[in-house]
Amino acid sequence: MADNIKSIKKREVKPGMYIRGYGKGTFHDPQVEVGKFVESYDDIAKYLPADTDQVEILTDKFLDISEVSFRKVKVSASQSAKALAEAMPAAHKVHDEAMGYAKKLFSDLQSGKEIELEDAVPIVDNIIENVSANKSASLTLSFLKRYDEYTYTHCINVNLFSVLLGKDMGLDREQLQHLGVAALFHDVGKGRVPSEVLNKPGKLTAEEFDIMKGHPLLGLKVLRSVDGLSKDILRGVVEHHERFNGTGYPRQLEGNGIHPYGRMIAIADVYDALTSVRVYKKAMTAAKALTLMYKWKGTDFDPVYLDRFVRVIGIYPPGSFVQLDDERYALVLETNENAPLKPMVKILLDKRRKPILHECIDLSTYDLNGEGLKVLCQPDPENLGINMKMLADFLA
Ligand SMILES: [Fe+2]
Repeated sequence: MADNIKSIKKREVKPGMYIRGYGKGTFHDPQVEVGKFVESYDDIAKYLPADTDQVEILTDKFLDISEVSFRKVKVSASQSAKALAEAMPAAHKVHDEAMGYAKKLFSDLQSGKEIELEDAVPIVDNIIENVSANKSASLTLSFLKRYDEYTYTHCINVNLFSVLLGKDMGLDREQLQHLGVAALFHDVGKGRVPSEVLNKPGKLTAEEFDIMKGHPLLGLKVLRSVDGLSKDILRGVVEHHERFNGTGYPRQLEGNGIHPYGRMIAIADVYDALTSVRVYKKAMTAAKALTLMYKWKGTDFDPVYLDRFVRVIGIYPPGSFVQLDDERYALVLETNENAPLKPMVKILLDKRRKPILHECIDLSTYDLNGEGLKVLCQPDPENLGINMKMLADFLA
């Protein structure tokens, strides 16, 4: 059997996999070719007969069984808090290095200096390693660092979210690195957009918007001369504003005609833009941003990728601020992938917003007199007089 073909049980088939065929190749169970990408659980029933057991999947460009069959050993909320606190210094270091790189990248772009791929690769590699070591620490930082300059945090966050999604989709290390580089460079074309258009505080005119829409192709122009950039990376950059239903730009590509990197970066880009503070708008909470993005599922965004993104990032991502139904306020430590509405949290404030004992709770298992504790809402911390810096201090 070729390296990229794996034989698995039907019950192990998950959305995100590519079914090559089914059947054992015997008289009673002949082999049948399928050649379909599984987008949802409904597709599994559609493509595979009820009585089949053996399924062949292609693993090279799609989700591999090893990516989904491995279940993390459950840890308690206090263990999770301890692991997070221990991982934060390394995550800070990687984030600070990435910020330094992003600042240099944009100043080089403005002064017309050449971009060097070898400067970007270690930054992307460190982010991939950091995400693998402790996903929650990287995500927490991406939320708590929202008070920093948007231009730089945006390219780092888009990189982080894209890598998390790509990892979950089963990309190998080299593909992850290419996706990460494309995400880091996705908006370099903006360095060539006239600053009066780029930095205009108000609404853009139709003409100005057309100029702004030129940035993916301007990015391609800048990056074409960079040695060592693969075609996949360039496509990831130039296609990050294409939309799944063909209404994006610059080429109005559609569906799977858009490079997977472009489809992934599109989700990461919009999510970060919505959840960030800008001069002209407040940050949207993570839950609100996802609700909005779900309305664009299948129109703007690849539906399979969007589902996976929500699973990976979580409805209440690490680093986000929530209020529980007993009115206490808490910071999310870790998401429970099997119970996305019930993350692990660290209690910070009582209902009068007075600091209280920092109890760590796993909402998926917490039970008080038969009553579970739930997330009531995800308030905007700024509305309660709490800024991101204060939240970061709570974790320290
Ligand atoms: Fe863009």
